[in-house]
Amino acid sequence: MDNRIITSEKLKEDGFEATIRPQTIDEYIGQKDIKENIRIFMSAAKMRGQALDHVLLYGPPGLGKTTMAYVIANEMGANIKTASGPTIEKSGDLAAILSSLDEGDVLFIDEIHRIPRFVEEILYSAMEDFTLDIIVGGEGSNRNLRIDLPHFTLVGATTRAGDLSAPLRDRFGIVAKLNYYTEEEITKIIKRSARVLDLIIEDKAAKELANRCRRTPRIANRLLKRVSDFALVKGDGTITLDITKYALDSLKVDKLGLDEVDYELLKTIIYKFNGGPVGIEAIAASIGEEVSTIEDVCEPYLLQIGYLKRTPRGRIVTDVAYKHLGIVKNNNNK
Ligand SMILES: Nc1ncnc2c1ncn2[C@@H]1O[C@H](COP(=O)(O)OP(=O)(O)OP(=O)(O)O)[C@@H](O)[C@H]1O
Ligand SMILES: [Mg+2]
Repeated sequence: MDNRIITSEKLKEDGFEATIRPQTIDEYIGQKDIKENIRIFMSAAKMRGQALDHVLLYGPPGLGKTTMAYVIANEMGANIKTASGPTIEKSGDLAAILSSLDEGDVLFIDEIHRIPRFVEEILYSAMEDFTLDIIVGGEGSNRNLRIDLPHFTLVGATTRAGDLSAPLRDRFGIVAKLNYYTEEEITKIIKRSARVLDLIIEDKAAKELANRCRRTPRIANRLLKRVSDFALVKGDGTITLDITKYALDSLKVDKLGLDEVDYELLKTIIYKFNGGPVGIEAIAASIGEEVSTIEDVCEPYLLQIGYLKRTPRGRIVTDVAYKHLGIVKNNNNK
């Protein structure tokens, strides 16, 4: 899936993401419920002169978790320190990060579900009592040492809330699930990004893009950039509806934002597994993708639009998906 354009995973070319990231909660479009709650909790924390309670953000890639973490730090007037689950391998890694914090800091840990369990335990007392318990010494002279930490806010992000241990999850005062954006919201995001990137986009073109980006800001922004390339080379720079359609067709992004991998996934289930139910491992092996890629990247949107259904016995392709693919459902698709 390396050169898959509509993957919501981060790509190297996404260096521009930081430049178009909203900085304030007012600039952050959509996710109304989450914003409303976080606004209240931030105001309360400021009134009490305390750090904001720990926040867990979860949901599919590219929906704005990292962006929200930065917005929170900015709104709280706090410094942000960042870390990532996979790079925290030993207790010492986490202890070093925690002991570098200052009062009121936001510590953002991305992919927090990937911290090993025995390391994660250090977070429990850090989050609850702002203390750090470490073992010093060696050679039979081990001592427990308790260090007080400054009051900080942990913002954790994960695409897999289910992989988080219960004790860790329970220590977050604020747990927020990010959802796919509405057509209206994603259109606003596209128009905002166009403004920031100094691009001119017609309303109809923005709407077309909104329908073909899986309601995911990261994909919307990436497609916007690609479409603007087409507009520059094939037109006069203005992003028109025609150019947008032409560009997205060339990029093999269909009317619903599905791409070749989605097609392969659905067709595999239909033709090889008679429409399902079929287990995720079998699908992954069949199309040569990682289970986690399918689960985190392809599936959430297909489930959201009702093309796939999850059942205890495996995945099923639904009737609407058959219709979209123009495949007549019969019991002998094998
Ligand atoms: N609510 C929003 N309003 C405007 N732009 C947004 C919003 N959410 C996300 N974006 C844009 O989408 C891009 C991707 O968002 P972000 O990096 O925060 O996603 P993420 O949820 O952290 O993804 P991942 O799970 O891969 O880490 C950002 O560059 C940002 O510009
Ligand atoms: Mg992120």
